[in-house]
Amino acid sequence: MGSLSKQEQVECREKAEYANVNWDELGFALTKTDYMYVMNFTEEEQKFFNGTLTRFGNIEMCPSSGILNYGQGLFEGLKAYRKEDEGILLFRPQENALRMKMGADRMCMPSPTVDQFIDAVKKTVLANKRWVPPYGRGSLYVRPLLMGTGRNLGVKPSSDYTFLVYASPVGNYHKVYCCREASLKVKHVLELNNTLFLKGDLNLMVEDNVHRAIPGGTGGIKAVTNYSPVYKPLTEAKAKGFSDLLFLDASTGSNIEEGSACNIFILKGNVISTPATHGTILPGITRKSIMEIASGFGYQVEERAIPIKEVFDAEEVFCTGTAMVVKSVASITYQGKRIQYKLGAETLAQKLHATLTGIQTGLIEDKLGWTMLI
Ligand code: COI
Repeated sequence: MGSLSKQEQVECREKAEYANVNWDELGFALTKTDYMYVMNFTEEEQKFFNGTLTRFGNIEMCPSSGILNYGQGLFEGLKAYRKEDEGILLFRPQENALRMKMGADRMCMPSPTVDQFIDAVKKTVLANKRWVPPYGRGSLYVRPLLMGTGRNLGVKPSSDYTFLVYASPVGNYHKVYCCREASLKVKHVLELNNTLFLKGDLNLMVEDNVHRAIPGGTGGIKAVTNYSPVYKPLTEAKAKGFSDLLFLDASTGSNIEEGSACNIFILKGNVISTPATHGTILPGITRKSIMEIASGFGYQVEERAIPIKEVFDAEEVFCTGTAMVVKSVASITYQGKRIQYKLGAETLAQKLHATLTGIQTGLIEDKLGWTMLI
C-alpha cells in the first residue's frame, strides 16, 4: 500500500471482507473495531436524538458527569454471529433493549426506545462487519452503554445522557484468565488442595464474605456498579487458581445466587434448577433461553431458592451468560470442601450449548423467532 494516501489505505483495509485477526486466539478482551454509535439525550430536548456512527475512539465528558461521580450507568451485552452463508444474526436484541429500559427506570435515567436500541445495534454491527468472526470461530460482542453525562455535583440524576454502542470480536470468556492464572498457580493449587485445575475449566469458589447484591439494591439490573465491587475477592480467588466466584444471598448466606458475570444452574435427575430472580440476580437472556431449550428437551425447569448444600448433590452444574454462553462447572469449593462435576461431550451443558449456538449461528432452525438477520 506504499503509494496510497493514509485515507486510501484506511478505505482499502475497510473494504476487506475480514479484518486481520487471528480468530482462533480470541478470548474475551477488547479488540478495537472501526466504528461506534453515539446518541445523546439533552435536558432541552428531553429525548434521545441524532444518533450517529463515529470512529471508535475515546470520548470526552465533563469531570462532574453522573457516570464518573456517582456511577449512574448501565450496560448491556449481546452477540452477532456469522452464519455459514456469511449472513449475520443478532440474538434476541429486543430482550436487551427491554432490560436496559427496566434498568434505566431503576437508575432514574431515560432510555432509548426499543427501536432506537435495535437500530443502533444493527448499525454498529454492520459498520464493523469485517470484525464479525467467520462462522464457528467466535462472535462480535456488542456492548451498549447508557451513561449520565450531564454536569452535576450534587447527588441527583444527571441532566444529560449518552447512549453509546461499541463492539469487539470475542472467543471463549474464560480462555484468557484460565490460561494466565491457572498455569501460574497449578503447582500451588496442587500443594494446597491436591487437585489439578486444568486451564479453561470453570472452577468456582463460594464467596461467603462479600455479597454481590442486596435485597432492594441493583443486582437485578445491569448497573455498571454491580461489577467492580467483586474485583477484590475475585482477584484473590484467581490468585489461588479459581476461575470465578459463586456468590451467596446476602440475607441468609445459605442460598446460591450467581457468579461475577454469569447465572448458574444445577441438574439432578430430570430437574434443572436455577436461583429465582427476585431483584438480586440478573435476569440473564441466556439464562431465559436455556430454560426454554431445556423445557423443550423434556426437563422440569425450576426457578427457586437453592441452598448451597444442594449444590453438593448435583449431578451437573453449569453457568450461563452472553459472554460465557453455557459452560460446565468443573468444581465448586466451599469452606475447604471441594466437589467435582461431570464434564465433556456427554453433559447436558454441552447439549444445551450446541443447541443454543446452533440457533444463534443459523445452523438449527429458529422456531422461536429469537434471531434477527441483519
Ligand atoms: C455478559 O455475559 O454479557 C455479561 O454481562 C458479562 C460481562 C460482565 C462480561
